[in-house]
Amino acid sequence: MKRIAVMTSGGDSPGMNAAIRAVVRTGMELGIEVFGIRQGYSGLMNGDYNLLTSVEVSGILQRGGTILQTARNEEFKTPAGQKKALRRLNEKGIEGLIVIGGNGSLTGALALSKQGFPTVGIPGSIDNDINGTDMSIGVDTALNTILDALDRLRDTATSHQRAFLIEVMGRNCGYLALMGSILGGAEVVVTPEREVKMEEVAAALEDAYVRGKTHAIAVIAEGAPFKVTQLQEFLSGKNVGFEIRLTILGHIQRGGSPTAFDRLLATRMGVKSVRVINAGESGVMVAQVGREMKTIPLQEAIDQIRPINESYYEMARFLSR
Ligand code: F6P
Repeated sequence: MKRIAVMTSGGDSPGMNAAIRAVVRTGMELGIEVFGIRQGYSGLMNGDYNLLTSVEVSGILQRGGTILQTARNEEFKTPAGQKKALRRLNEKGIEGLIVIGGNGSLTGALALSKQGFPTVGIPGSIDNDINGTDMSIGVDTALNTILDALDRLRDTATSHQRAFLIEVMGRNCGYLALMGSILGGAEVVVTPEREVKMEEVAAALEDAYVRGKTHAIAVIAEGAPFKVTQLQEFLSGKNVGFEIRLTILGHIQRGGSPTAFDRLLATRMGVKSVRVINAGESGVMVAQVGREMKTIPLQEAIDQIRPINESYYEMARFLSR
């Protein structure tokens, strides 16, 4: 291969820049020109491509977000949108495409590869909902941001003897909530994967109060069976001992400098993606499996949401006492 392109798509995640840098510099090593596509599938269809030189990816390793920008795009999901993209890729002489993004973005990558265009995916999403890889780029940084917030909120909760309801991101996946609750020492967690009733949350908070705790933390995933605001309203009609406060962490979780873990993961994935596309692989996603960097079919990556290791729920239950 002589010329490939790289793009970021869907929600940005910390470490995407490190992956772009690794793709460009691995391309240089293998004698492949790498073009950067701006704003995800919108730029792919509109021909917004620029050659990325070594200098352009210099100083971005530690930066959150994505220098290529990103977008969520509906048109690309249509056959007409995909034809438009393929025409642009051919016009520019691009022979292969690397897509960094979450489930929606990888679904787009699969569509292109099915039409015969060499395409490789890199999992980039803070949600850790992409199947087949232990971790996606940005998860570790987001989790550390969540822990920092939980630690701060506990300080003020303890001072006032309050309970905090904290909503974390993750779309339909409870990974960030469950890990955040275990590592941040929460009293109770609610995720999309498991049915928990509001009465159970109230009971856990009351139990913490009765046992003499000076604070209580409930971590609620954004995709939980009930909204954190509903929970707050429900609790306002009960007396669990603590005064209740609510914090929605929101997009704070998406920004920030990537951790060492995310820089390494993104770098390894970027290097691997160029090597495999150059070796003729297509319709695959780079995945970390144990200590290995492998490729798995894109179909497998998007077929289902990455399942949570069930044993963590049990751990969360007895460690919160
Ligand atoms: O997929 C990443 C994510 O941050 C989810 O956790 C969240 O549900 C969603 O994106 C938010 O999307 P947007 O940035 O478009 O509001």
